[in-house]
Amino acid sequence: MKESNGQDRGLITRGVLDNIDEGIIALGHAGRIALFNPAAQLFTGVSEKQALGRPVEELFARQPELLKLVRTVLASGRSISDHREILLVRPGTSPLPVRPAASPLYQDSGEQNGAILVLHDLSRVKELEKAMRQADRLAMLGVLAAGLAHEIKNPLGGIKGAAQLLDRELEESSALRDFTRLIIREAERVNGIIEELMDLARPRPARMEEVQLARLLNDVVLLQRQAHRDREVTILLDLDPSIPPIRGDENHLTQMLVNLIKNAAEAVGPGGQVEVVCRVSHDFNFATPGNLPGPVIVIEVKDNGPGLSPEEIERVFTPFYSTKAKGSGLGLAICQKIAEEHGALLKISSEARRGSVFSVTLPFLRPTRQTPRPTGRKPARRRNPPPSKKGAP
Ligand SMILES: Nc1ncnc2c1ncn2[C@@H]1O[C@H](COP(=O)(O)OP(=O)(O)OP(=O)(O)O)[C@@H](O)[C@H]1O
Ligand SMILES: [Mg+2]
Repeated sequence: MKESNGQDRGLITRGVLDNIDEGIIALGHAGRIALFNPAAQLFTGVSEKQALGRPVEELFARQPELLKLVRTVLASGRSISDHREILLVRPGTSPLPVRPAASPLYQDSGEQNGAILVLHDLSRVKELEKAMRQADRLAMLGVLAAGLAHEIKNPLGGIKGAAQLLDRELEESSALRDFTRLIIREAERVNGIIEELMDLARPRPARMEEVQLARLLNDVVLLQRQAHRDREVTILLDLDPSIPPIRGDENHLTQMLVNLIKNAAEAVGPGGQVEVVCRVSHDFNFATPGNLPGPVIVIEVKDNGPGLSPEEIERVFTPFYSTKAKGSGLGLAICQKIAEEHGALLKISSEARRGSVFSVTLPFLRPTRQTPRPTGRKPARRRNPPPSKKGAP
């Protein structure tokens, strides 16, 4: 390989700093910012222009832990790479968990000339940890509850059978038949819940095939509009036309989207609004076994309902957690399971009284067979979604 000259090396260094996922901040003379790469700008919400030349004490005035780290490195001349995680406060958005590290910078003469601060974004790791915790909890409870469900099914069958016999014995006009019918109906409802629960613990294996997400979403939204028509809930659909076909289990994906949209429609009051958005996102990469990191498909179900507090968010995936009179509390647990089998991430962002967003981030699983794309177009590499197709059927 040819040795690169100084200019090439400068370009390579610039390229590395511009593209690396770590926030890199160099402090020069008197602790003034001398370098502030794009990742550092993204993490802190401060532009390079705002940062360059400013004293670090001023720029990070609201981050005492970060300042303490920088001061220690400047004073001791030693690197610190094992600092615990801190939350970066950012204007207008939620704090970002990062792991900071800092090292002194030396001139050729050996004299200390500043420091370099590296910020490692932990938000993705945190999301995955949370998804793992949810999945673990689900697996444990699923197995436990399935054992219990098995024990309930037999006596329940007995209760229903006895109620049916009693029903047949009673006169057609008997007022008691209201009660026997109620017993039969409720026994069937409990049986339905148990079947769902057993599905959760021992789901039928996913049948992965090519799925046209756009068509599937159109169908699900159409049905849900129909189901919630009486309460005058508006369900909008905003589809990115460049969504390619994916590999997935069509029935399971349908079940997941029905559960999410149904929850959203049930959460909003009469006249409320649910918006379903499906787009290709290049904002972060998703590496799954057998797949190169690449763009992802994001399906968001947004509602303007009461929202969820952080404590409620912790609870909603737990099987049987429900705040509804007739809810089984299994809907989201099943969604979690389906997301997992598709290598997808199911996430909630919500604030009490401000509505919720349930988002499913699916890896770009390309179909195994080469099939023509529905639109004949490649997904365009763009950050902003195309003009919305709100209200499409
Ligand atoms: N979009 C939402 N907005 C507010 N709360 C929600 C939303 N989605 C779910 N929840 C809360 O999470 C709980 C659990 O939801 P989940 O879908 O698991 O069960 P469910 O809807 O109660 O019952 P089922 O799905 O069997 O009808 C709900 O009872 C509700 O309190
Ligand atoms: Mg539900």
